Amino acid sequence: MLARPIRVVVLLSGRGSNFQAMIEAQLPIDIAAVISNRPQAAGLAYARSQGIPTVALDHTQYPDRAAFDALLADEIECHRPDLVVLAGYMRILSPAFIARFEGRLLNIHPSLLPMFPGLKTHERALAEGVKIHGCTVHFVTADLDHGPIVAQAAVPVRADDTPDTLAARVLAQEHRIYPQAIRWFAEGRLINVHGHVNLKDDLASQSVLSPGT
Ligand code: GRF
Repeated sequence: MLARPIRVVVLLSGRGSNFQAMIEAQLPIDIAAVISNRPQAAGLAYARSQGIPTVALDHTQYPDRAAFDALLADEIECHRPDLVVLAGYMRILSPAFIARFEGRLLNIHPSLLPMFPGLKTHERALAEGVKIHGCTVHFVTADLDHGPIVAQAAVPVRADDTPDTLAARVLAQEHRIYPQAIRWFAEGRLINVHGHVNLKDDLASQSVLSPGT
């Protein structure tokens, strides 16, 4: 008998292109709900168009981060997720929230971590003059943008790049590696070896080197 598909809850704040890539990849997952802290997020409208249950929890209506995160965590737990996917969720999560979901909380970050944690990664990569940039899928821990790395993709930086052109090249790779990483999780193939994430029974590379466009 086949194992049941894992249950996934997606959190997003904006356009939701990574969420859309997840849907298009036809992963062996059951998306129980998409939750946004921004009621107008385009990603919520896309979820509704796909018949996926959505929840809008407007963070501006709550007194502080701890109160909002407690309610958000309770809402997520109602959907009994095996995995919580941050897909452009643009709020820092409180330590109490992360503790509740650690080990089943994935994020995609638009840089080659541990370089450029935080915001404005493409601007900062250009300002540093790096020649290679990229994106990282990682498990979320209390150490912001420093959790165990699952997969990475690298793109070349061009002399005439702007933050927007570089972001677009990186985003195309995000749309490749995030569905792949979620598939590995769903298949039970991600194993933690001394705090590093390896792929079970496989020597497949967890990195993608893109020639760019
Ligand atoms: C992506 O660049 C992702 O790396 C970052 O937020 C952005 C979300 O984009 N965490 P989208 O909403 O998935 O289009």
